[in-house]
Amino acid sequence: MTDTELYRIAKDMTLMSYAPFSKFRVGAALECKDGTIFTGCNVENSSFGATICAERTAFVKAISEGHRDFAKIMITSSGGEAWPCGICRQFMKEFCDDDFIIMTAADEDHIRSYKLPELLPEGFRLNEDLEQF
Ligand code: THU
Repeated sequence: MTDTELYRIAKDMTLMSYAPFSKFRVGAALECKDGTIFTGCNVENSSFGATICAERTAFVKAISEGHRDFAKIMITSSGGEAWPCGICRQFMKEFCDDDFIIMTAADEDHIRSYKLPELLPEGFRLNEDLEQF
């Protein structure tokens, strides 16, 4: 899938966002290495700490459906570009290799992209040398 197509899917997902507190609607489109796409939006909660970001929504949907090999993610929001928060970067580190691409865009003509280690240098992973459970 092209990055523009991925952007449009992420943008559509901002409409599914539940963000009554921040009013900041975030959408994500996660592409697996086999081409499968999983979407996500942020889901807020009255107990603010229980809020789930759009990126983690997409990852949890994918992992719970048996997908573990991820190629790239596109993130966008009602406010333009949205880079993943620290928790989401760490969440990605658990499942993604150093070639995983993180993209964001305010519109489809201004897509910016980084590899995961650029956004999370020296990221922590406990099970690096262990067998996957
Ligand atoms: N949020 C995301 O969903 N992803 C990001 O990359 C940054 C922040 C959400 C969490 C919260 O619902 C709202 O944006 C404001 O922080």
